[in-house]
Amino acid sequence: MADETSFDLIVIGAGPGGYVAAIRAAQLGLKTACVEKRETLGGTCLNVGCIPSKALLNSSHLYEEAAHGLERHGIKTGKVGFDLSVMLANKDKVVGDLTKGIEFLFKKNKVTWLKGKAEIVKAGSVKVTGEGGKAATYAAKSIMIATGSDVARIPGVEIDEKRIVSSTGALALAAVPKHLVVIGGGVIGLELGSVWRRLGAEVTVIEYLDTILPGMDGEVAKQMTRSLTKQGFKFRLGSKVLTAKSSDKGVALRVAPAKGGDGEDITCDVVLVAVGRVPYTHGLGLKSAGVEMDERGRIKTDAHFRTNVPGIYAIGDVIIGPMLAHKAEDEGVVCAEIIAGQSGHVNYDAIPGVVYTHPEAAAVGKTEEELKKAGIAYRAGKFPMSANSRARANGDTDGFVKVLADAKTDRVLGVHIVGPDAGTLIAELALAIEFGASAEDIARTCHAHPTLNEAVKEAALAVDGRPIHI
Ligand code: NAI
Repeated sequence: MADETSFDLIVIGAGPGGYVAAIRAAQLGLKTACVEKRETLGGTCLNVGCIPSKALLNSSHLYEEAAHGLERHGIKTGKVGFDLSVMLANKDKVVGDLTKGIEFLFKKNKVTWLKGKAEIVKAGSVKVTGEGGKAATYAAKSIMIATGSDVARIPGVEIDEKRIVSSTGALALAAVPKHLVVIGGGVIGLELGSVWRRLGAEVTVIEYLDTILPGMDGEVAKQMTRSLTKQGFKFRLGSKVLTAKSSDKGVALRVAPAKGGDGEDITCDVVLVAVGRVPYTHGLGLKSAGVEMDERGRIKTDAHFRTNVPGIYAIGDVIIGPMLAHKAEDEGVVCAEIIAGQSGHVNYDAIPGVVYTHPEAAAVGKTEEELKKAGIAYRAGKFPMSANSRARANGDTDGFVKVLADAKTDRVLGVHIVGPDAGTLIAELALAIEFGASAEDIARTCHAHPTLNEAVKEAALAVDGRPIHI
């Protein structure tokens, strides 16, 4: 019988970073196990993150279109309503099917799922505690930590997942709140705020900084503020929540200017805390294994994902960089290849980021603010969606494409898009950056007509001051 207690590689965590790494390692012939304590594979992304939120964003968008968007097309529907329990059940089915899909992929690739919570005993040894506290220890030539991240909390605001919820609770509210207060104007706040606003909630976003989406290009943040305000979002920028008191009736919040000064009270039914995420390393035994962390609780690695302890690697949300599923996936693949003796690297300049609101916001590469700060001379070409024929035919014209290219070499340094399907449009630009394309390369590439992608081509032409349609 095969030895089921020793492996070439044990991956800890079966999120998009860990499960993809495990499959890639198995493809390369490594005897691989993946430890996961959740009942289902897929981590935060599949279970309580990207996938369920996209299911609800799609359902709520369809409802909003049916209720308010079809009339102008001459489509008559009568009164449109929705059944929240069916909507939530549909989301749960999508999640269930996809997580089972990963189980299938594990079997197909002969990855062993070790069910339980992992603790690194030392390099080469992992203890897994399963149901009922039963523990077993496994040997591994290499260990890859892919445990992801957890919700960041703020003092004075205790998450109970009923009235004061994290993104997990906000994906499963039993009823549409009358008034939803979102703390944090980042990706989660705007996406889940959009879901409940479309279903009828009044949504107030309380953001500490003077802008929403602080990491994104300034013009994107401005456009998104305009578009979402038009949809009914209320933004209280430069504000902080001092306390949140939950009762049977709702939640009473004390809100004050971030810079200090008099506070005021706001009441609501539900509060969503969306102020970021923190690396999840609790109980992993990192201290006793001697794994070094940085001042923000992230595991320190070199460019090959090696920690300071030989044989222990780390990828994804537990290390430096954006907390994105696809960044973790790419790191997982490259790390598995390096462990298998190949070489590889991740190009951090070509990792797209997408906010799945409507319109969507998407970006790859550097923002104008970053280029200015770094003193890099650039040329910007911008094209509005309102001048794109397909966007007009669809009646969906909020947004723009902005291409930033090196002033001397014309190499594309960053692209920022607000608009319908921006998350799909950005793929072309990630490829452009990966291939070291110039704005001229994009401008000279034939783009099908009529498509939204033509706005990308026009923005690339605008870098050289020669767009056709504006
Ligand atoms: P985030 O970092 O995107 O946004 C957090 C926001 O909260 C920031 O604007 C910040 O200034 C603000 N903030 C921080 N402390 C605050 C306070 N005390 N009071 C008021 N505002 C405060 O984090 P978010 O939205 O929680 O998302 C967590 C992670 O999940 C992010 O790394 C994000 O990239 C990832 N994610 C990605 C998605 C996507 O790719 N579409 C979707 C959802 C999450």
